[in-house]
Amino acid sequence: MDVRIKETYDEISDEAAQIVLRQLQEKPDSVLGLTAGSSPMGLYERLQEAYRDGRADFSRVRVFTLSEYIGLDANDERSFTYYTRKNFCDGLNLSEENIRMPDGMADDIASECARYGEAIEAAGGIDMMILGIGPNAHIGFNEPGPCFVPETHVVELSEATRAANARFFDDPADVPHWAVSMGMRDIMFARHVLLLASGAGKTEALALALNGDITPKAPASVLQLHRGAIFIADRIAARRLSGYEDDPS
Ligand code: GLP
Repeated sequence: MDVRIKETYDEISDEAAQIVLRQLQEKPDSVLGLTAGSSPMGLYERLQEAYRDGRADFSRVRVFTLSEYIGLDANDERSFTYYTRKNFCDGLNLSEENIRMPDGMADDIASECARYGEAIEAAGGIDMMILGIGPNAHIGFNEPGPCFVPETHVVELSEATRAANARFFDDPADVPHWAVSMGMRDIMFARHVLLLASGAGKTEALALALNGDITPKAPASVLQLHRGAIFIADRIAARRLSGYEDDPS
């Protein structure tokens, strides 16, 4: 497995940006899968910077977000759609028709999930999936459960995930209970996967993902089977990975 340990969040973001920019040079119409959250913020800033400096062109890039809360609309600052527009799309020359995100306000959410899956397939699948990891090793909003769910689906969020995401809400009770998430097939069929993890809150999750059994109880563990997955982590997040434990001295 390709595990890259960095000293700082900035170094994680620099390394990730280099990888994504190389991907765009090789395939200017790449399809990117985008996570929300704190982990990719530095990467997204660097991609916007690269665009402003003329080092990257996003005019043919297509993007799909990994997940969305059910019940928050696109203008709600707490929605992943709002997050992605603000922190990624707005600073780039993406074409509007190349931006796809699940609609958490759809009347018929099952049809929305089906449409989303079809759109990913019509785009030829994801070239590069950018992932964070939840404290319980969820990816996207694929929560721990009895089985891996292959397609875009509705998820009931675990209390651990709601608690971890409560920081974006004034009242923790406002964190939605339900979300839409891309499924494991879209993640596993992505040609490249980049997972970013930093800080003590990710130590346990990363150990479960990389050193534990491959099990839907730790969804990120399935990435052990992905041939193009790159994990970029800081020392604190990686300190329980075998071979990367803290030097006790
Ligand atoms: C959310 C998202 C995930 C994200 C995770 C970690 O639950 N659905 O896609 O990876 O949080 O977020 P952060 O990077 O903010 O720790």
